[in-house]
Amino acid sequence: MKLSSKNQNNITQPRPEFKIFNRWDVVTNGWYQVLDSKKIKKGKAIGVDVAGQHLVLFRGESGALYALDGFCPHMGVDLGIGKVVGEEVRCFFHHWKFDGKGQCSDIPCLSEKKLEIKTSAYCVQEKYGKIWVYPSSKAPYEILEVPELKGHEVTVSHGKSYKRKCHFHVTMINGIDPQHLSTVHNINMNMNVAIDSSEKDTIDIELEGQTPSSRTSERVVKALLGDRYAYSMKYQGGCLAALSVMKGVKLFNKWEVLPTLHMLFAYQSHIEGETIVQPIFLTKKRNFFIDRILLFFTKMAFKMLQGEDGEVYENIRFNTQNLLPIDAPVSKYIKYINSLTPSVWSRESAPEIKSSMRKKRELTV
Ligand code: FES
Ligand SMILES: [Fe+2]
Repeated sequence: MKLSSKNQNNITQPRPEFKIFNRWDVVTNGWYQVLDSKKIKKGKAIGVDVAGQHLVLFRGESGALYALDGFCPHMGVDLGIGKVVGEEVRCFFHHWKFDGKGQCSDIPCLSEKKLEIKTSAYCVQEKYGKIWVYPSSKAPYEILEVPELKGHEVTVSHGKSYKRKCHFHVTMINGIDPQHLSTVHNINMNMNVAIDSSEKDTIDIELEGQTPSSRTSERVVKALLGDRYAYSMKYQGGCLAALSVMKGVKLFNKWEVLPTLHMLFAYQSHIEGETIVQPIFLTKKRNFFIDRILLFFTKMAFKMLQGEDGEVYENIRFNTQNLLPIDAPVSKYIKYINSLTPSVWSRESAPEIKSSMRKKRELTV
């Protein structure tokens, strides 16, 4: 019998069970990337899977976007095959109609006006040329921005999405795992970890260090970019991360003229055992050619980092049994993930969701 790696070696190498971290049945509250903005035209509806949940996205005649639970609350037909009427969507099957808040506004076979039926509606936003959904009707914060780009207009390029065979909570550790930075990427860095609790559901991690100079290629980089450099990671909602690299580098160790490169990573999973990552490359808007060149270098930096340790995530059974003091950023990050809240898109087995699901079911039986 072939077991998935998560069930292998459970006796010889037991793992702690976390409340949220590395759990496939928990979907935390956060902004989830759905698809390109231009994929939904005015007056169109589309059925989409987001973090394992099926939704209908529709754009009203005004251009406003709405997101509702994907299955009609009458008999469960996919509302994605429905028709948009004004700012509402009409189910294909029996023509029940729903507004952007999920309120049923029309049942053709009934004459009474007062309808109690309501389906779940979700907060939806457009940013970076993408559509994003939050698993609640109200989002307590905006979609993550790279701190250095806050308030600036940005030029954006979308990378090709890719899959990983482990939970994204695990792949997200890559940027802050101090030991592998030197063993895999040959980067020796001092870690300064700053946790900013002023912004809900986020954690900031800043790393700075000395440019290595043991190999010829490293000495060339050092002569070009200077003695020291830094990079930072900012995580939001356990499903979105901003990475800024080449911070504080000096051209020929003198001039601070080189721009920092920025990337965002949007994570989600539809099925257990598979993570989907959408990279987004960003730069401050300058002019067409400079923006394209910087985005090209950002993409190159991403490809280089990705190529060096991608295979780690093909068969990892993440464990925290023997973490060392040097792994402190990893422990702090796991603590942060466990402080997040599970959303209503979590599976039934998730802690905190279990009992509320049971109650709901009792009411409908
Ligand atoms: S299934 Fe949608 S109106 Fe009946
Ligand atoms: Fe790495």
